[in-house]
Amino acid sequence: MEREIGTVICTSNGPSAVEFNFVVTNTSLPVPVRTGQFVEVRTEEGMMIAQVTEIVKTNRYFMHAEAVREYEKGGRPLTTIFPVDKWEYIIAKAKPLAVSVNGQLERVTFPPSPGEKVKIADKDTLAKFLGLDLENGVELGTVRYHNVPAKLNLTRLLQKHLAILAISGAGKSYLASVLTEELLLRDPSKGRVAVVIIDVHGEYVSFAEKISGNNYVDFSDKVSVFKSSFFQIAVPQISERMFGELQPQMSPIQIRELGRILKNLKKKMYETGLPYSLQDVIKEVEHDEKMSARTKEALLGWLYDLEDTGLFGPVESPNLENIVKLGRATIIDLSETISLRKKQILVSYIAQRLFDMRKQEKIPPFILILEEAHQFCPEARKELAISKGIIETIAREGRKFFASLCLISQRPVRLSTTVLSQCNTHIILRITNPYDLKHIGESSEGIDKAVLDVITTLNVGEALVVGEAVNFPLFIKIRKRKSKEPKHALNLEEIARIYEKIT
Ligand SMILES: Nc1ncnc2c1ncn2[C@@H]1O[C@H](COP(=O)(O)OP(=O)(O)OP(=O)(O)O)[C@@H](O)[C@H]1O
Ligand SMILES: [Mg+2]
Repeated sequence: MEREIGTVICTSNGPSAVEFNFVVTNTSLPVPVRTGQFVEVRTEEGMMIAQVTEIVKTNRYFMHAEAVREYEKGGRPLTTIFPVDKWEYIIAKAKPLAVSVNGQLERVTFPPSPGEKVKIADKDTLAKFLGLDLENGVELGTVRYHNVPAKLNLTRLLQKHLAILAISGAGKSYLASVLTEELLLRDPSKGRVAVVIIDVHGEYVSFAEKISGNNYVDFSDKVSVFKSSFFQIAVPQISERMFGELQPQMSPIQIRELGRILKNLKKKMYETGLPYSLQDVIKEVEHDEKMSARTKEALLGWLYDLEDTGLFGPVESPNLENIVKLGRATIIDLSETISLRKKQILVSYIAQRLFDMRKQEKIPPFILILEEAHQFCPEARKELAISKGIIETIAREGRKFFASLCLISQRPVRLSTTVLSQCNTHIILRITNPYDLKHIGESSEGIDKAVLDVITTLNVGEALVVGEAVNFPLFIKIRKRKSKEPKHALNLEEIARIYEKIT
């Protein structure tokens, strides 16, 4: 492709170091330049990179309204009377972003000269300017309007957490699947991580299906799925403090007394080698003689309530330590669990266990992908979400231990601001709700009014990346997935046809 597209021209206040205009001279393409595209032009400082902010078409034949009207009165359009098409030209406005001085990107302090040639930015220059990692990066798609792969550096993308935000149906889960594919297909020499997905709607389970044929890549040998109905929380792994988080109304005295009971049970466990269940905790409380009757009654109430959830047992199943491995994905399918409280208990336990094991180096660096994150760490009061505390802790401290979060939400306003502000990279797909837009404008770095306006116009599969992973807000087109899409991706008519055959 011809990269040279235009020539810098003079205007009343340019070219300057903050703005310049160029006339498009390349007529070989029907759309030679687009708003948002990156261009480069040589200046005395070095090669300058700029972004096209506005494109105007003009034609001197159409400048005078009365002349156009007079000529066209006869019923013939102006285009058939004069060679008007030869006089149409395009002027683009561009905003200088950086200049490359001896291989280093610096702030622009000097304008380009009128007459200087403007080119579409070269792949390597653009990659460098945007902070892409073309060699080892995670390939989420392509840079919009450029034939450059959007390969984001793994450390920059994940070390300080990631948030994927958009309205329903914009492609959040699709993007998370593309990210998962990249992590699973990564060569061990480039550095891999373990993936754990909290799959609220059972959208990721198709990763584990065996696939024949060449249309899709088979990930089944790298992925394990565990249904929440079979998940068992190990009671010996739960400290009295964690019990206190599961039952936020427990008083400090009750927590302290429970701590004493758990200590006794742990002692017995070491002697006999047998882990204890919630029933054992309940029995121990019932037979305890030191506890006041009131404390005992309250404590038993909290414990019976937890026992009723059916989530607790003496051992953990599946054993998280054994399944969270580099280059593998573990999917916890919560789709069969209806109760939000039960889902929060599971998420709270899993997140806490993963973080503890990571601190003790029992499991490798991992990324925890959390769908419907606003349900698990809402901005609202703590009591409403049992899992909020641990997610906020991982958000604050996780990066020191390479425990990363990827939070997915369709309601950023309802997501905890503590957590959102710790997500140093935001990938934003289409958002239309003005409250969500305002919230994002305030909580994401580098987003100005112009960028916010574009977010409302994004199509499915188009995204904006801002924050740590890139040097500059970047619009990308998400690539097609390599894994098979879940059934959810079928449309209403397709589902209806399947249903018709079954019944
Ligand atoms: N990059 C893409 N390329 C092609 N199709 C896509 C892309 N992204 C999303 N889609 C399609 O758009 C639809 C919605 O995508 P997805 O399920 O990922 O949305 P979502 O944002 O997760 O929605 P929800 O909030 O309801 O979970 C799906 O049918 C998916 O196949
Ligand atoms: Mg989704």
